[in-house]
Amino acid sequence: MTPREFAERVREQTDIVRIISDYVVLRKRGSNYMALCPFHRERTPSFAVHPVKQIFKCFGCGQGGDVFAFVMRMEGCSWWEAVCLIAEKQGIPIPSLAAHKSTSDREARIEWQRRLAQINAWACEFFERCLHEPKGEAARVYLAARGISPDAIRRFHLGYAPESWTALSEYLLARRVTREELERSGLVVLREDRRGYYDRFRHRLIFPIRDLQGRIVGFGGRALGTEEPKYLNSPETALYTKGRHLFGLFDARDAIRRMGQAILVEGYFDWLALLEYGIENVVATLGTALTDEHVRLLRRYAERVVLNFDADVAGRQAMSRNLERLIHGGLEVSIVCLPEGEDPDSFVRRFGAAAYRERIAAAAHYLDFLLDEALRGAVFPLSPSIQARALKLVLPYVAGIPDAIERSATADRVAGRLGMESALVREAMKRYRRALSAGDRGEDVLEPISAEAAPDVTESERLLLEILLHADDKVRAQLLAELEPDDVRGLASERIFELLRTLAPTCVSYTALVEQLAEDPFALDLLERALVADVSGTQEELLERARGSLRGLRRRRLERELFALQAEIEHLRPGEEERLNELLRRKYEVATALVKQGS
Ligand code: UTP
Ligand code: MN
Repeated sequence: MTPREFAERVREQTDIVRIISDYVVLRKRGSNYMALCPFHRERTPSFAVHPVKQIFKCFGCGQGGDVFAFVMRMEGCSWWEAVCLIAEKQGIPIPSLAAHKSTSDREARIEWQRRLAQINAWACEFFERCLHEPKGEAARVYLAARGISPDAIRRFHLGYAPESWTALSEYLLARRVTREELERSGLVVLREDRRGYYDRFRHRLIFPIRDLQGRIVGFGGRALGTEEPKYLNSPETALYTKGRHLFGLFDARDAIRRMGQAILVEGYFDWLALLEYGIENVVATLGTALTDEHVRLLRRYAERVVLNFDADVAGRQAMSRNLERLIHGGLEVSIVCLPEGEDPDSFVRRFGAAAYRERIAAAAHYLDFLLDEALRGAVFPLSPSIQARALKLVLPYVAGIPDAIERSATADRVAGRLGMESALVREAMKRYRRALSAGDRGEDVLEPISAEAAPDVTESERLLLEILLHADDKVRAQLLAELEPDDVRGLASERIFELLRTLAPTCVSYTALVEQLAEDPFALDLLERALVADVSGTQEELLERARGSLRGLRRRRLERELFALQAEIEHLRPGEEERLNELLRRKYEVATALVKQGS
């Protein structure tokens, strides 16, 4: 059995309503179940689950899909992990993929990930044990000196890697971890001559790094003295990719979701100290630049992000790099700057949790932060050259704000601070966006913005689609026969109609359609919305309603053609009589058809 076949079996035996109700409170409404969306914050439910079509869709944030997609997003896991998780819940035995000799790369990788998580868990146990043995004395002293409580040490499984080249390797080999597995685990370093290896972490304090399922994917090791490097991290492995993990998200995500806000810090100890002081909505970047994937990850749990990086120059630079990504990811960003020389760890220990919370509450909106920097030392009223310089500085951040309303409000805000006309700022933002979409950052390129707005979906189109998806096979076939390709040409949903027409009527399943639409997120969104729509009535009523929509579509198409013909006629030059006659003839045909449609 292939993973796909197995997934199909799991899907058949699973009710999406039951699975989702493990995560949110569902209430029946019409043919759907509704809930507050777990993927974004809202006060009125816009998250729908359709028990017959077996899909979910949030009308607020747009997330949608089948039961696997739901679990993937909720648990932050891969597709196959979601399949297995649901299979486990349903008591369906998971076929051992290792048993098949012909396992695909993907399956082999998943198997190795599972094994590696086990190896890491053993390593973690080993480090923890060493911390409490006599040889862990130096690390215990270090932790005490940094004010880490025994409670936190236990809760976060801190450990100590002993001063030895082989202690961990031996421990793991004794547990029947093979040499080959050790070499791939990232826990050892291969010797130059590749004829052996030694333990990567030696005489270091160890922080385990977890993924969203709580699996240990890697480690960070801090030097106990002034040795270099100060921190040593696991290399990337099948389980650990720097650009995909945010340190501490596993422990912090509930708090982040609850508060709708995440505090972003740089270091292991910053994270640890804040959690110890009861501030739990914290994740750490571990000193690396944020990636788009990090931002998407955060976006799942929070709308607002507070950046709290060191006040030194490097910290500020890291901050602006990350800032741009976060803003463009649609997050609401504010910034906390601590007094010179303090990081979150030292600050919270010196001034306490209440003082830190105050700083967070008073965090500056990123725009104010940027403009403060840009206008430092400037005198008011600002000279045009200072205005221009400041504007240029904020443009890269604000021009990329994805939401148009938010962007416009931001333009007003910038204009207000700089004492400029809003229209000027708006124009500059527009130009910057255009330049961006032309692939040329920041320069004045006058090309139209590429189709940025979602195509317009008319009411008729939506209704027709809903009925096509919910009516029985006979009505669907009838409607598809009446539908002419021209009726839907150029519509946002053209592709869906086309698929419905080409797929055999019995194959109209969400899964089949989704696969075909994977590359077209807008059409996919339309499809999902139509699938969870509340469609009721007898088949005859549905057919009549759909025909009404079809007439509407046709009318619109004819009106558009008429409009285009008229425009062309008006632009004809003298001497083009032949073309004129042709256009007039066509115009008459279209107008006649339109009159017929209207009746
Ligand atoms: P910092 O140098 O700001 O250290 O690095 P810190 O977190 O305040 O550490 P302490 O308080 O001195 O123990 C910030 C983060 O950058 C990563 C680590 O994740 C660290 O927590 N880093 C730093 C490294 O990966 N390697 C290094 O050598 C230094
Ligand atoms: Mn520090």
